[in-house]
Amino acid sequence: MKLSTLLLSTLLAASLNAADQNASNEPKNVKMEGAGYIKQLGGTLKVELEKHMKADPTGVAAFGFCTAKADEITEEVNQKLPADAKVRRTALKTRNENNNPDATDIAVMESYIQEIEKKTFNSENDIKVVEEGNVTRVYKPLLTAGVCLKCHGQNMSNEINEMIAVSYPKDQAVGFKEGDLRGVIVAEIKKSEEK
Ligand code: HEC
Repeated sequence: MKLSTLLLSTLLAASLNAADQNASNEPKNVKMEGAGYIKQLGGTLKVELEKHMKADPTGVAAFGFCTAKADEITEEVNQKLPADAKVRRTALKTRNENNNPDATDIAVMESYIQEIEKKTFNSENDIKVVEEGNVTRVYKPLLTAGVCLKCHGQNMSNEINEMIAVSYPKDQAVGFKEGDLRGVIVAEIKKSEEK
């Protein structure tokens, strides 16, 4: 497992470099295309989360909203995207098992964590592009902000802990601090002849 992660990181570093070198050609356009799709999902979820947190600062309403609607909103955004594209959220520690990462997701998130630890992370330039066979993946990191701590932090209210226990008995997405990598949004775009 450790070795394969290492191998994958090496491969990933190589493909990230390749994507950078071609910055003037296709990858740059795909990067912008993916970033746009990521914004559609991230922006919608952010607006809804803020609205519900404002209406009920305990987070209980917003928690119920996330449980009931996060998947649905992801599907709605995907229905509006071109047929060759999709977006999703994932994390190293997930709350909803449907969001569990694959090996490429894990390698990308580990590289973000390394950058954060080494203080080379740059929020202005944080999108990563990974070429994988017939698919280009575009990643945007989600750092833990103050507002996230009510539901993903170290000291949460009894109400929130109860909601987690009821809806997500296998939850792993707690214990984060501000500035930690909470997860990523991924856009996956199939390559076609025309592009
Ligand atoms: C009001 C509670 C609440 C707040 C605040 C909150 N989340 Fe979540 N978060 C949830 C719930 C509930 C889920 C599971 C949703 C589902 O079932 O798909 C979740 C899921 C996620 C996921 C998907 C991966 C996974 O673990 O399943 C990410 C990424 C995420 N949250 C990031 C954040 C970030 C970043 C913030 C702060 C900007 C934040 N969350 C704030 C409740 C919250």
